[in-house]
Amino acid sequence: MTRRNALRNLAVLAAGSPLLRAQQEIQYTPERLPLLTDLVNVLEFEPVAKSKLSRETYDFVAGGVDDEATLRRNREAFQWFTLRPRMLVNVSKLDLSLELFGQKIAMPILVSPTGGQGLSHPEGELAMARGAGQLQTIMCVSTNSTFPIDKIAAAATGPLWFQLYPGDDRDASRERVERAVAAGCKAVAFTVDTPYDSNRERLRRLRTTGSSPAAALRPRRGPEVPSQYRLNRRPTAELTWPFVAELNSYAKVPVLIKGILTPEDARLAVQHGAGGILVSNHGGRYLGAAPSTLEVLPGIVDAVAGKIPVLIDGGFRRGTDVLKALAIGAKAVMVGRPSLWGLAGYGQAGVVRVLELLQSELALAMGLSGHPNLASIDRSAVSFDRK
Ligand code: FNR
Repeated sequence: MTRRNALRNLAVLAAGSPLLRAQQEIQYTPERLPLLTDLVNVLEFEPVAKSKLSRETYDFVAGGVDDEATLRRNREAFQWFTLRPRMLVNVSKLDLSLELFGQKIAMPILVSPTGGQGLSHPEGELAMARGAGQLQTIMCVSTNSTFPIDKIAAAATGPLWFQLYPGDDRDASRERVERAVAAGCKAVAFTVDTPYDSNRERLRRLRTTGSSPAAALRPRRGPEVPSQYRLNRRPTAELTWPFVAELNSYAKVPVLIKGILTPEDARLAVQHGAGGILVSNHGGRYLGAAPSTLEVLPGIVDAVAGKIPVLIDGGFRRGTDVLKALAIGAKAVMVGRPSLWGLAGYGQAGVVRVLELLQSELALAMGLSGHPNLASIDRSAVSFDRK
């Protein structure tokens, strides 16, 4: 048996065992990586990324807050919903395309903004943008990107959005947004769930032994004076709903509010002129004991009542996960960590493969459940049956 075959058999065995996979017992080394084409689902990219990244970067990407209950709950919630397939529908042709803010894209799976992609791969956001473009979908570029927005836009082959963390200097934030829009970003995602640095215990432990990428990413705030109760307050801590109108006044593109978890805030977002809502708990990385995003999606979709598009991220790893969110009423979903695993493992080709796998899994789920296109998917396609 060749070394590659032996590795592959091990990976196949582990993929069949949720327990083994959950514990990430597949340990590759950078010299011994599986072929990209040998990976059969998105989850199998995580151990590859783990083998390529430093401990610090891996923990930065993988981690959540506190005891990581919300991080786990994002995944668990998919088990509380099942699909309700319909038969004898003509599904001989499948169409996953949609229009979002007037822009046609090939599938309802977008790339979430993640900071510092250069930590995962030397080509960072450039490779991510090209990968997303190859699938004709949207990449949302983080405020904390490794490369400047103009350079990412020049490399991009598909549509970009820009994610905003406003800084202390409002004029500088405005310039940032204007620069991103001038570079071609078609929407701004304003992240609202991060008024304070959060409790990343994995990183706090590592910090005692050396520097962490999170520390490197943290925007300069002048002298490091911890605020009340030894917390690190961020500039967004003082922002309130009227800031959405301020942002709208100069963004000139739709502003999505990223980080909504309640129907009350969803209604406020509509009232204050948001162009869209992104239901997100930041991948379990800010408030401990936050709900999973999928479980709050129905209430938020109902509150918004179709006035603006509702998107969601957090734990999407399977085509059936995506179909469940679409059935509940999300217009599209976004993926954070999987896109980074693909990037870390194989650069642009890895991003492409991760997105392709999700796309074909979604197409298969639609084909097997009686949905030839996105318009045919409604709430009757899913049932909530939490045991
Ligand atoms: C993030 N996320 C994030 N969100 C944001 O608005 N701005 C940012 O700069 C970042 N940076 C970031 C870095 C890393 C390493 C991760 C894992 C996440 C949150 C991200 O946009 C998204 O909400 C979650 O990642 C979605 O959950 P999954 O798909 O990672 O489970």
